Amino acid sequence: MEPTVAKSADKTADEGGSETSIDRLTAVEAAEEHARLATEIREHDTRYYREDAPSVSDAEYDALRQRLQALEAAFPDLVTPDSPTQTVGAAPSEAFAEARHAVAMLSLDNAFSDEEVDDFVARIRRFLRLGEDGELIFTAEPKIDGLSLNLRYEKGRLVVAATRGDGTVGEAVTANAKTIDDIPQTLPKGAPDVVEVRGEVYMTHADFRALNEHMQAEHGRVFANPRNAAAGSLRQLDPKVTASRPLRFFAYAWGEIPELPRDTQYDMVELFQSWGFSTNPLMRRCSTASDMIAVYHEIEEGRSGLGYDIDGVVYKVDRLDYQRRLGFVSRSPRWAIAHKFPAEQATTVLNAIEIQVGRTGALTPVAKLEPVTVGGVVVSNATLHNEDEIARKDVRVGDTVVVQRAGDVIPQVVRVLEEHRPEGAERYVFPTTCPVCGSHAAREINPRTGKEDVVRRCTGGLICPAQAVERLKHFVSRAAFDIEGLGAKQVEAFHEDGLIRTPADIFTLEARDKQNLKKLKDREGWGPTSVKKLFEAIDTRRTIALRRFIFALGIRHAGDITAKLLAEAYGTWEAFETAMTALASGDQAAHDELVAHDGIGETVAEALAQFFAEEHNLEAVAALLEQVTPEKAEVRAIDSPVAGKTIVFTGTLEKMTRDEAKARAEALGAKVSGSVSSKTDIVVAGSGAGSKLKKAQDLKLEVLDEDEWIALVDGA
Ligand code: IVH
Repeated sequence: MEPTVAKSADKTADEGGSETSIDRLTAVEAAEEHARLATEIREHDTRYYREDAPSVSDAEYDALRQRLQALEAAFPDLVTPDSPTQTVGAAPSEAFAEARHAVAMLSLDNAFSDEEVDDFVARIRRFLRLGEDGELIFTAEPKIDGLSLNLRYEKGRLVVAATRGDGTVGEAVTANAKTIDDIPQTLPKGAPDVVEVRGEVYMTHADFRALNEHMQAEHGRVFANPRNAAAGSLRQLDPKVTASRPLRFFAYAWGEIPELPRDTQYDMVELFQSWGFSTNPLMRRCSTASDMIAVYHEIEEGRSGLGYDIDGVVYKVDRLDYQRRLGFVSRSPRWAIAHKFPAEQATTVLNAIEIQVGRTGALTPVAKLEPVTVGGVVVSNATLHNEDEIARKDVRVGDTVVVQRAGDVIPQVVRVLEEHRPEGAERYVFPTTCPVCGSHAAREINPRTGKEDVVRRCTGGLICPAQAVERLKHFVSRAAFDIEGLGAKQVEAFHEDGLIRTPADIFTLEARDKQNLKKLKDREGWGPTSVKKLFEAIDTRRTIALRRFIFALGIRHAGDITAKLLAEAYGTWEAFETAMTALASGDQAAHDELVAHDGIGETVAEALAQFFAEEHNLEAVAALLEQVTPEKAEVRAIDSPVAGKTIVFTGTLEKMTRDEAKARAEALGAKVSGSVSSKTDIVVAGSGAGSKLKKAQDLKLEVLDEDEWIALVDGA
């Protein structure tokens, strides 16, 4: 497992958290923490959305996102297009055809406290200028813990069913969706010609248990929870398999509909019900924050009796004209929020602390627990995050600890019940040598901040077998080379026997096998057919997308989204390598060009420079390039009349608030600035505009009034 769950991870678990208060961070420190968190969140996204195998609890994940948002609120420059706050989910897998969403499938912002619900309501009132008493109705309904699905109907027939994917492009799972009873294949007369109904695919607890019994008996493995079972069942290559799985669906939203047939959220959902969809019976209308919170508690109390997993309550502004005006803040609507339930907890004994070594040498402590049931799942491992967290919580072997999980695989240790500490239990001493290779393990000092990193790392580099294996696992992972038949287990075995030491070795495996006396086909678990298939799978990867190639190198801070940005920024491996070699030799122009790309900051730049300054990395890449050819990448741009333009709003706007105008401009790819200069492209002048308008006229800039602005962006 790749470690480093940042300190912020257990913020919800223990409010006395050790993370540095944001107002004490310098811009550089904030940028670094931001980059670290963003990478980590993306990795979790990949595991959750693409691999259906999350490795942290939802609560931990939410805490990471909260900290990221707080950082961005304090340091707005950190909001880059590839920040996890601006993107949704993970890129779709390639096993299914791609389905581009006509209307992006977004995510929801979270609230964890009553205050945050109050703030949400107040924010909307301000945005819509409703004052304190203007009527404002919300719907409240359970947040179903499943996976979202877009169902596109044309002329009353279901034509495409698509998963969310990265929000823009999902996986077409149409034949599979058609096997779900709750999903009508045709709509009644009178339904619009084109309509997309959205909702959640889920599995009940009873069906999940029965499926797992069957899975255990037939396949010897089980799904971790109903959500994973639902996702795994929907994303089957054979629709017959999906048909045999008891999936259900609740409709609660929509995508493309040329003309909305109702005026409110509530009525839309009722309309879906009249068309034959299942809708959640617990949806209510509320008119104040305290009503909403009351419904939240009601639903929470009934939660264990529902028979399916829910992880919170979703509030949505009921009036659709308000929803349209409120719009979106990049990845989530301003008009909705998910009020999450607290994570489930249990108490157990910690038997041992095991140290795992990751790809970058990070030493991660894992608690080995006396097995305990937490919210219906037996837990025997939990993350302890890092050295400082163990010290802060004073976790000792033998302690009784509180463990927390929320619909996931690896839970966390929240705190110690000191009153149960056995006599003689000693303070845990974190190792200062690598448990695998024995090299010194150090906490790096950040050269810019002079502070110690939270993570202790093995300094063994290439000689550390644990790091080498983890790097190889990364190399063959889903978003990297994704070689069928060569997963983590096989890589471990091949590495142990010296068959694969470096990525290039994968591609010479077949040639060497011909010369070796001990053949692959004679290994346990292999035969002539599986070996032949493996070699074929390896051969199909001899040409590979540039983004996958860059990601596969395992450069620190270069997660798959950063790799994609780099691929799109440089287009070819040759251009990228030339620029990175210049960067590594201290070339200022190469540095400036790199960080000029949206989404690439100093942390990534530094990691790239370090990677390309290491001779052994260059050798490994050169050896790999003898076997593999990275393809050219395409460069993509936003398509709107204001994309890439700098806009200044001045004066008073009558038809919308300044926030609303700014949000719309940014959503269309424009930059909004506060001051007019020769770099400004458009000035939108409301009534009473003064010096900024004058300056714009002096500079002969394009000046629009409010109506012209609306005409320009409406329908865009
Ligand atoms: S409304 C624009 N309502 O939660 C987003 N989402 O965290 C509209 N979800 O992607 C989504 N229950 O998969 C909505 N009652 C509900 C939901 C719900 C579960 C999921 C959905 C969404 C995710 C966001």
